[in-house]
Amino acid sequence: MNDLIIQNIQELILPQPIDKPLKGHELDKLKVIENGTVVIKDGKIFYSGPHSDDYEAKEMIDATGKVVSPALIDAHTHLIFGGSREHEMSLKRQGKSYLEILEAGGGILSTVKATREISEDELFKKAEHDLLTMVQHGVLTIESKSGYGLDKDNELKQLRVSHRLADKCDLDMKHPFLVFHTVPKEAKSNEAFSEDMINLLPEVKKYADFADIFSETDVFSIEESKRYMEKAKEAGFKVKIHADEIDPLGGLELAIDENAISANHLVASSEEGKARLKNSDTVAVLLPATTFYLDKNDYADARVMLNNGGAIAIATDYNPGSSVINNLQLAMAIAALKLKLSPNEVWNAVTVNAAKAIDSDAGTINEGDKANLVIWDLLNHEYILYHFGINHAQKVIKEGKVIVDNEFNID
Ligand code: NIG
Ligand code: FE
Repeated sequence: MNDLIIQNIQELILPQPIDKPLKGHELDKLKVIENGTVVIKDGKIFYSGPHSDDYEAKEMIDATGKVVSPALIDAHTHLIFGGSREHEMSLKRQGKSYLEILEAGGGILSTVKATREISEDELFKKAEHDLLTMVQHGVLTIESKSGYGLDKDNELKQLRVSHRLADKCDLDMKHPFLVFHTVPKEAKSNEAFSEDMINLLPEVKKYADFADIFSETDVFSIEESKRYMEKAKEAGFKVKIHADEIDPLGGLELAIDENAISANHLVASSEEGKARLKNSDTVAVLLPATTFYLDKNDYADARVMLNNGGAIAIATDYNPGSSVINNLQLAMAIAALKLKLSPNEVWNAVTVNAAKAIDSDAGTINEGDKANLVIWDLLNHEYILYHFGINHAQKVIKEGKVIVDNEFNID
């Protein structure tokens, strides 16, 4: 006997499994079935497709007027951090830039201080709350970076918390090592810090899935980024990079040269870099919620990347400074409005292509897949981009069990 059947689904969104990330015009193709059925057995998809009366199950959910999709994937977050930075809002109002705030000891460095001060258990509780908010919004696969410890003990503390969260919440999580996020105050020099952290790579390997770096003016140069990526690859890591977020340093070209699994931000990337995406499997992870939150006018040029045949994904970049947004639905809406993405492109960018950016096999709900899916209170799959800023996830189902139920009950 099957466990659960979801019937009368107005629109069933079925991104198709892929070996390589979808590129260019491929992102605009999405399988959407009207009047669909999903059958779940032992936590896995037994059937997903057009309406069928051939199946019986212990439980039935009537999804009349609803959309069903795979659970979403947030492929870039800095979920684990101490403190908060609401006081930076007034500095921003006075016209201080992100890099000026960082230089004055604010920004990332103030979160480093707060992350070092907080105990491991407190850090866990705080991150768990933020993680469960993401889950409530339909996300079941999450990348959670280190990068607010900037020394061995505190980076490992963040990575341990990330693994504990994955275990306790039983979620599919990835844990990049982002110790090259900025140089801590106590470092004697960039070079000394870099050497020490590169020496840590073999020890950190068992806790981290990828090595990540923030390449930016006054943070890490292209040369430093290249050296770190090469050393990380020697230590067995796959690499990724925060590239060209503010200044066009050539981080995207470096990511492609180093065969990075993803290049992130890319707001200021060169035309040459964007053109080269076509012949590479590096996924351009675009973070439009960050551009919005930093109150910038220029967004990453997703249309050029796609017209050039590149692969893109969309993520929140949730962090306490430049993107205090742990609602991926909001990032999807900003992507539609500001990156001019079509609904099909957005859905692929937060499911199958997001999976490729973090080396995950999530993002599809075909026969045999984990039954990780969302029942959305949406008229159709375009509506989520139109009516924005609220939570449209009605039920979140993890391995066949309803773990979030946001339905009204006011009788
Ligand atoms: O991806 N750009 C670097 N890192 C984060 C911001 C971190 C922070 O401001 O605390 C980002 O935007
Ligand atoms: Fe980031």
